[in-house]
Amino acid sequence: MEDKKILFSAIQPSGILTIGNYLGALRNFKKLQDDYNSVFSIADLHTLTVKQDPAILRKNTYELAALYIACGIDPEQSIVFAQSHVSAHAELTWILNTVCYPGELSRMTQFKDKSLKHEDNINMGLMDYPVLMAADILLYQTELVPIGADQKQHLELARDLAIRFNNRFGETFKVPEGYIGKSAARVMSLAEPERKMSKSDANLNAFISMDDEPQTIIKKFKRAVTDSDNKIIFSPEKPGISNLLSIYCAFTDKTFEQAEIEFEGKGYGDFKVAVGEVVASVIEPIRQEKNRLLTDKAYLDEVLKNGAERAERLAYRTLNKVYKKVGLVLRKR
Ligand code: TRP
Repeated sequence: MEDKKILFSAIQPSGILTIGNYLGALRNFKKLQDDYNSVFSIADLHTLTVKQDPAILRKNTYELAALYIACGIDPEQSIVFAQSHVSAHAELTWILNTVCYPGELSRMTQFKDKSLKHEDNINMGLMDYPVLMAADILLYQTELVPIGADQKQHLELARDLAIRFNNRFGETFKVPEGYIGKSAARVMSLAEPERKMSKSDANLNAFISMDDEPQTIIKKFKRAVTDSDNKIIFSPEKPGISNLLSIYCAFTDKTFEQAEIEFEGKGYGDFKVAVGEVVASVIEPIRQEKNRLLTDKAYLDEVLKNGAERAERLAYRTLNKVYKKVGLVLRKR
C-alpha cells in the first residue's frame, strides 16, 4: 500500500440501510478512499449482539459487500472484508477487555438504549460491543474513522483504550481521530421530523431505504409530513421542510440559500417531487448495480477473500506486537 494514512470504517450487515446511512457513511467512504489507505469492514460479529436469523445474516453480508462496491468503493484499491474472516478482531478484543472497566461499558448510551429495546437478550456481547469496535479500529493503526454522530462515544472509548494500553505497555497503537462528515447532519424521519430516520420504524413511509425504487421514493417524499404555511425555508419551527431541504442540499451539494431561492414561490407539492426525484436519481443506479453484483456471488466471494487476506496481514502485525508487549510467548512458525 502507498504511504498514506489509514482509514477504517465498518457498517453492520443488519438489513435495510437508509439514505441516512448513505449520507452519513457510504458517500463519505467513496469521497475519502483516494486520500487514505482505506479499510472497510462488514461488521458481522457486531450484529450477533442482537438476535439474528442465520440465513438472513448471511444474505445481508453479501448485500452489504455489493452495496459498498455499488456506492463506488473500489475493492482493488481499498480493502473490503468481513470482520469474522480476520480472527485478529476477536483476539484483540480479548486483550482490550483486560484493560477496559465494566463501568465504561455499562454507561454507554447505545448499550442502555439497546438493553431497553432487547430486554429479553441483554448479553455480554451487547455490553462488549464497543471493545470489539475498538479492536476493529486499533488493529490497523488507523488514523481516521468516519462515523455517524451516534458512534462518537464508542470512538472515544477506542481512543481511551489505546492511550491506556500505550501507557501501560509502551507505544503500540495509533490514537485514532473520528470523522463526522458535514452532511451527516442527521436525516430525520419523513413522518415525525423530530425523530431520527430509522430503518426499524414500523411506518415504512418514514424512511427511504437504499432498496426503494424511484416511484416508491417519490411517493414517500410526497407523503412527508410538513406544516401548512407553504414557505420553503430552513427554520427550527419547520422541522419537516427543514429536513427535506437538508436532504435536497445533501444530495445536490447546494447550500440552503441556493435551494431556498430555487424554490421561492413554489408550493410544497412541487418541492417534494423535486426532492424525491433528486434522491431517486442518485439511489437508483446504486440499487441496480448492487442487484447486478448480487447475481455474481463468485465475484463477491473473491472480493471478500482478497480483502480478508490483505486485512489479515495488517491486523496480525499489530496483534503480534500486542501479544509480545503483554508477555505472551509468540507461536513459532
Ligand atoms: N458500530 C458501528 C455502527 O453501528 C459499526 C462499526 C463496527 C464501526 N466497527 C466499527 C464503525 C469500527 C467504525 C469503526 O455504526
